[in-house]
Amino acid sequence: MKNNVGVILVIGGAGFIGSHTVDLLLQEGYQVRVLDNFSTGRRENLPLGAPRLEVVAGSLEDSGRLDLAFTDVSAVLHLAAQVSVQRSVEDPVRSSERNVVGFVRVLEAARKHGARVVYASSAAVYGDPETLPVCEEGPIRPISPYGLEKYSNEIYAELYSRMYGLSQLGLRYFNVYGPRQDPHSPYSGVISRFIEQLRLGLPLTVRGDGLQERDFIHVYDVARANAVALTKAVDGVVNVASGQRCTIRQLAEMLLALASRGDDIQWVPSLPGDIRHSQADISRMRQTLVNPIISLNEGLLAKCKERE
Ligand SMILES: NC(=O)c1ccc[n+]([C@@H]2O[C@H](COP(=O)([O-])OP(=O)(O)OC[C@H]3O[C@@H](n4cnc5c(N)ncnc54)[C@H](O)[C@@H]3O)[C@@H](O)[C@H]2O)c1
Repeated sequence: MKNNVGVILVIGGAGFIGSHTVDLLLQEGYQVRVLDNFSTGRRENLPLGAPRLEVVAGSLEDSGRLDLAFTDVSAVLHLAAQVSVQRSVEDPVRSSERNVVGFVRVLEAARKHGARVVYASSAAVYGDPETLPVCEEGPIRPISPYGLEKYSNEIYAELYSRMYGLSQLGLRYFNVYGPRQDPHSPYSGVISRFIEQLRLGLPLTVRGDGLQERDFIHVYDVARANAVALTKAVDGVVNVASGQRCTIRQLAEMLLALASRGDDIQWVPSLPGDIRHSQADISRMRQTLVNPIISLNEGLLAKCKERE
């Protein structure tokens, strides 16, 4: 075990962000346990059989399983969620059961076991900001149930810190991309969807006018931020992003250029709850966690090669 730190539990560790974080934590010498129900995550994402990795198959709604997974845990990274904005609009009751009640279950288990909690919040808490870039103190105005659920996670975590002295940090991830992001899911990130369309020789489908802006961060940089967050005494909330913004249209054009394809865009209607502008102020992330090191161009190039 590294520096006598206890086990690090990653809930949702078989998913996109979770599995990259597990890889990094293992490389850094930590003892890692994954709790995952494999609803969207995959066993193939994990280095099964690696020394210092334990996998507990189960859902966090199963209190016995959750309690077992917390044995000897010093810090938990909680990533499991209903991750789709669109689904939260269609079925807000089910979405809040998974994203709010599920989160309280994790807080309770962490309190009982004396573990630090690092959890996935989201840029969705900001809604459609009037000024960019957004900093952590900026106005919180979610425009979807998903965004509100993530914000309620932050308020709950803060309450637990006041009531019980729980050590906790919420990471407001912006748009994360990179290997292992499922391109087949209708809810997957725009980059993996575009790359899959390129691979199949299809036009890139751009929603609305394509002038929506996003702040894309590579999953490797997110994993680095997660790893530091688990073992450093930083509390509250931190934006996790690149600090750069790019329109969806520019993104499509960059990818078409990288693939030496002409102007092959198909315009489709926008989605409810879709955010218009997004760009993070990452001063706090730089000061307390890490500096992002992978540029969008480098990340896209690597992603295109991966799909060849
Ligand atoms: N990917 C992004 O761009 C992004 C942006 C902002 C926030 N987030 C948040 O980051 C977190 C991780 O996102 P991701 O993209 O890696 O998603 P993902 O779907 O790849 O990973 C989620 C993992 O949690 C597991 N899981 C889901 N419900 C579970 C349950 N009840 N019990 C046990 N395991 C369960 C899934 O099987 C999966 O392995 C989520 O909370 C998401 O809301 C992601």
